[in-house]
Amino acid sequence: MSRPRVYLETFGCQMNELDSELVAGQLHALGYRFVDEPDGAQVILYNTCSVREHAEQKVWSRLGELAIRKQDDPALVVGVLGCLAERDGVALVKRMPVVDVLCGPGELDKLPSLLDNAYRTRQSLLSDRVTATDADRRSAGQIALQGSSSRRSATLAAAQDSLEMLDLSRATSPLDTIDDDHPTAGAVRKRSAYVRITRGCNKFCTYCVVPFTRGAEVHRPPEHIIDECKKLADAGVIEITLLGQTVNHYRFEHGAAVTIGGVIQPQKGRSYAGGHRRDPFAGSNVTTFADLLSRIHEEVPSIERLRFVTSYPRDFGDDVLEVIRDHPRICRYLHVPAQSGSDRILTLMNRGYTVSEYLEFIDRARAFLHEPEKGRTLSLSGDIIVGFPTETDEDFAATIALVERARYKNCFIFKYSARPGTTAYDKYEDDVPDAVKRTRNNTALDVQSRISDELSREAIGQTFDVFVEGLSRMEEKKRERPAKNCGGGVSLTIGGNVIHSHAGEASGDDDDCGCSTAAIETPSGTASGETTQFSGRTDGDQIVFFDVPSGASTDELVGRIVQVTIERVQRLSLFGRLSGQR
Ligand code: SAH
Ligand code: SF4
Ligand code: F3S
Repeated sequence: MSRPRVYLETFGCQMNELDSELVAGQLHALGYRFVDEPDGAQVILYNTCSVREHAEQKVWSRLGELAIRKQDDPALVVGVLGCLAERDGVALVKRMPVVDVLCGPGELDKLPSLLDNAYRTRQSLLSDRVTATDADRRSAGQIALQGSSSRRSATLAAAQDSLEMLDLSRATSPLDTIDDDHPTAGAVRKRSAYVRITRGCNKFCTYCVVPFTRGAEVHRPPEHIIDECKKLADAGVIEITLLGQTVNHYRFEHGAAVTIGGVIQPQKGRSYAGGHRRDPFAGSNVTTFADLLSRIHEEVPSIERLRFVTSYPRDFGDDVLEVIRDHPRICRYLHVPAQSGSDRILTLMNRGYTVSEYLEFIDRARAFLHEPEKGRTLSLSGDIIVGFPTETDEDFAATIALVERARYKNCFIFKYSARPGTTAYDKYEDDVPDAVKRTRNNTALDVQSRISDELSREAIGQTFDVFVEGLSRMEEKKRERPAKNCGGGVSLTIGGNVIHSHAGEASGDDDDCGCSTAAIETPSGTASGETTQFSGRTDGDQIVFFDVPSGASTDELVGRIVQVTIERVQRLSLFGRLSGQR
């Protein structure tokens, strides 16, 4: 059998991008080949997001198109992975019989071998013209795997054990196992990588599906995380982003773990109450988030940039801020969503902090990390939900006041989307009219745009270290290789590297993940035939565009850190000239 061609498209957050990369690596090891376009693929996989209705709609429309295609192409195998698969379960397959494989995020470790089995069974049945019935052919190899919700039960440990294998599989396979001529979304990132430190979430914010789709919070053992970072560094990675839904809540209690199948069990760990300044249990048998950051910094010195997302405002101890301050390769960039500036709404959201506690945190973080005199500044970004049930004009005004006070570099603004299964869906009527949500969304965007613009202007004349992510989107367009939209993020495929930007940043209006951001302008004006425009990020996560003479080797720039002096700005985007290269 020739190598099956698979197209994998990723929607949603960085966690999904990482999952896609891990699944792609395993499928590749089984002989699958990745293609850039769905046409001609024999297996089509969507790794889905369920966080807002908008994100789901994208997938439904893709599946509708595939149902038509499958009438002429019965051999096609269609898989829905990720959070929508978990949330909707078999109802999804009933609604969309085109789906052959359904796999929640908590079962992805089993997917590659089961999918392989499904694919091969289907191929042989389709070629069996004699005995196979139409029903056999239709259902051949259909599989449905879910379980994040059930893993809140006693089976948690065993299920997590095998899930841990998925992350470990990446750590043990070289990054460049994916065909360089056919990289796909999420499949190859040679110089920048995500590393998961915590799965799931226990916060149960009332609007949010994530605790249901991703299951209970489980912290990975620090040894596994550090080993993974080392292997990535050995493979050439220089930027690592640690991932967790509440990443700064990381805490691993040693000795509480059991070993199954030779793997140390990830375990839930003793939860701490929040609001603390330091972890009171820190000590020899506990690895706190601060410990983990400093260990990675010290034990993997070739990592030039260490970041982490997403932080939960309540869980930031001074110990973490000190470690960031004292370790130069940890980026002073914090994504700390506030969600609302109204205490009443924060309570309805079950966020567990008040506005004044949030602002106290921001002030404390600035006191530790904003040191312009030393050339080190703190860059903050946030998320806001507008139109949460019962939100009044006063509540919204309080949110705007918070945005003004926080002075985020950029802020993702979402219109509230009622999600079945959440507490807010059950308890609160979605009573803010869409027109009001839209107006509030636009108002918040305008305020944030002005702030982003003001902050960017401060960068003019300064020189930044910039991690080059790839050609700019305009340059891509010029070359008629449009940047691929992979749902909540953007994937650029350059010279065999797939470069990601954060969810939502590429759009000024609702995008796939249903968010808007005030921050990004499409770069304009500078790309010409004589120069090539690249884009990258500062360690504070500001986007920088710069031109180099055409003909310069992309390999010498992409994935490297260069110095760029900023000459002009457009809201969050900084434009400059290359002033140095390492
Ligand atoms: N764990 C992260 C967020 C993950 S979801 C945190 O707590 O900060 C990413 C963002 O989506 C959230 O910060 C929130 O702003 C938004 N979001 C989640 N559920 C939503 C919903 N039902 N409607 C609108 N926005 C939502
Ligand atoms: Fe969702 Fe809240 Fe958990 Fe973030 S902290 S993933 S918003 S439940
Ligand atoms: Fe991420 Fe969307 Fe799931 S934001 S965790 S992919 S619901």
